[in-house]
Amino acid sequence: MTSESVQPMPGPSRRTVVAAVGAAGLAVALTACGSEDEASGSSTEQGAAAGGGAALAKTADIPEGGGKVFDAEKVVVSQPAAGDFKAFSTICTHQKCPMTDLKEDTLSCACHGSQFSVLDGSVKKGPATQPLEEKKVSVSGDSITLA
Ligand code: FES
Repeated sequence: MTSESVQPMPGPSRRTVVAAVGAAGLAVALTACGSEDEASGSSTEQGAAAGGGAALAKTADIPEGGGKVFDAEKVVVSQPAAGDFKAFSTICTHQKCPMTDLKEDTLSCACHGSQFSVLDGSVKKGPATQPLEEKKVSVSGDSITLA
């Protein structure tokens, strides 16, 4: 009879298939998360390829006199003056809470209420006493890359 030849694969093989699908699903989910953070993903990647590093943002994404928080990188990029870009850590210098609350040029800490200027990293309001840690960025064309 042919019934033996159409038997399904034994258990372990089937489990392997399920595990592989699970891993692929996770990869897809991670990829989806990453691309949501970047408003213009495909063109940003082209800039990164040209510059040799992973582009963080487009210069047009950063308002002059303000900034933009990048949660995944724990960085805020600001533009104190036209064409002048700066970046600072978004980790509060008081007790290291991550900060995401940016209004114009002021980054506020939800933990104890410290406020920082994202234009120069300085403390606007305590209890923090130390300025934000500055990060290096380089601008290539219209792409901003974390150095
Ligand atoms: S950790 Fe930010 S104000 Fe205390």
